[in-house]
Amino acid sequence: MNENMITIHLIEDEAYKTAVTPQSAWITVVQEGTSDLPSIHPQLDQAIVDLQQKKMFTGKLKQFRLFPTYGLIAADSIVYAGIGSDMMDTHAWRMIGVKMGREAMQHELTTLQVTDLSHLMSQATEEIIPMLAAFVEGLQLGQYEIKSYQKDASPSVKLHTVTIDLSGSTHDKVALEQKLTYALTLAKGTNYARDLTNLPGNKFTPEMFAEEAVRLAKQHNFSYEILDEQQMKQKGMGGVLAVGQGSANPPRMITLQYQGDPNSDDVIALVGKGITFDTGGISIKPNAGMAEMVSDMGGGAVVLGVMDIIGKSLPKKNVIAVIPAAENMPSSTAYKPGDVITTLSGKTIEVLNTDAEGRIVLADAMTYAKQLGATKIIENSTLTGAVLVLLDHVATGAVTNNEAFWQDFHEATKYSGEKVWLMPSYEELRKKLKSDVADINNSPGRGGSMITAGLFIGEFAEGTPWIHLDTGGSSWLNQQSDIDPKYATGAMVRTIAAFIHP
Ligand code: BES
Ligand code: ZN
Ligand code: ZN
Repeated sequence: MNENMITIHLIEDEAYKTAVTPQSAWITVVQEGTSDLPSIHPQLDQAIVDLQQKKMFTGKLKQFRLFPTYGLIAADSIVYAGIGSDMMDTHAWRMIGVKMGREAMQHELTTLQVTDLSHLMSQATEEIIPMLAAFVEGLQLGQYEIKSYQKDASPSVKLHTVTIDLSGSTHDKVALEQKLTYALTLAKGTNYARDLTNLPGNKFTPEMFAEEAVRLAKQHNFSYEILDEQQMKQKGMGGVLAVGQGSANPPRMITLQYQGDPNSDDVIALVGKGITFDTGGISIKPNAGMAEMVSDMGGGAVVLGVMDIIGKSLPKKNVIAVIPAAENMPSSTAYKPGDVITTLSGKTIEVLNTDAEGRIVLADAMTYAKQLGATKIIENSTLTGAVLVLLDHVATGAVTNNEAFWQDFHEATKYSGEKVWLMPSYEELRKKLKSDVADINNSPGRGGSMITAGLFIGEFAEGTPWIHLDTGGSSWLNQQSDIDPKYATGAMVRTIAAFIHP
């Protein structure tokens, strides 16, 4: 193998590589408006020159042309991919990575070589790493495919090996290989969260969620604890118990612990809503769109996705994961509007709407995270439909009690390219959480309801720096985007991971 080549493995399994029919492609990235077109092979080069002259290929972002090579080069196909006018735009590289990952599945490609990067190679290593990392991350994200339960379904052929031709550069191969492998790890963690989020409610109950968390913990040597109803009762986790009490599938409190810095008392807690199905309970939801509520454990799935990345990249930080898992059902044993619940913190909640169940299970999870030593909390949840009204499926909405923590966290989006927007924590809105009979009410009305939902959870942070991420819009798409597939997106996995391990 050429010493200017970097090889990375999207699939490690050697048996897969030999079982699958080999189909290779080269991809070359073309900048918009350049006269300096790639030189791969004279006849292939001519084809792209012709297209350019007819203005059918300009190098515009996401423009793709795939040709068979008829044996002219050592690959079955050649792909010309437009990157737009800015060769140094990470988001553009990620988008064409995703597009290439999708095309690869369509054409059953098993290996890909990125070639003729001469434009990029003249840049310094620090400059090109983010571009190539974003591309590789995109490739893996683009290879995501939702599990099918159709009788004769078989998964698509996947890319297993990608090589990058670094000819013309003096880049540190080892450092580059490490960064690219980390980019793959980020994407795999995201795809894992997508898989869990897409699981139907009958295939992912709170108990199954707990089993999955234990499997992950064993894989990465995390310590773990699963609390059942008896144990939760003993501790006084009245919130999770109330929300879960209407279901034949009992609730669980799931915690994982990773100690990457034993000499430090700093502990980042990742808290994620784990409602495996949300019917709304007695305040039942209308039927239209209810099936989407299989994704109401998306926050918990994101937490496991990040923990998977942590288990592979071993950052020098202490991290705990806390996932309150429950199924919100209407039944003769279900909790009801008007009920008053005592949470783990001792604070009482007046239930005005059983469909605002996320904040109730999260109240216990926040307190438990603090009991386990959390000094910072990142909590992410499909908490409201209101965030969808504010930001559509485009961005995650945020609420915080600590501006400095938020600034730090927000830096990580520069790498991930994910959009997060901070909402104001107005005192007028916090007052709406008051109750006549309890410490707090769970449904203060329509006005500002994305913010009041966040502020409710903030009451249980009790001064510990905390960021709330409402993925009620960003965690689920009804049609694929440039980065994310249809249905579960795994939004926030890459940003949270990038914050923990920059
Ligand atoms: N899981 C939902 C929020 C949701 C709705 C996420 C649609 C994604 C898409 C949450 O439990 C809920 O039902 N929230 C209510 C709260 C209201 C009753 C105070 C909402 O947002 O309408
Ligand atoms: Zn609900
Ligand atoms: Zn919910």
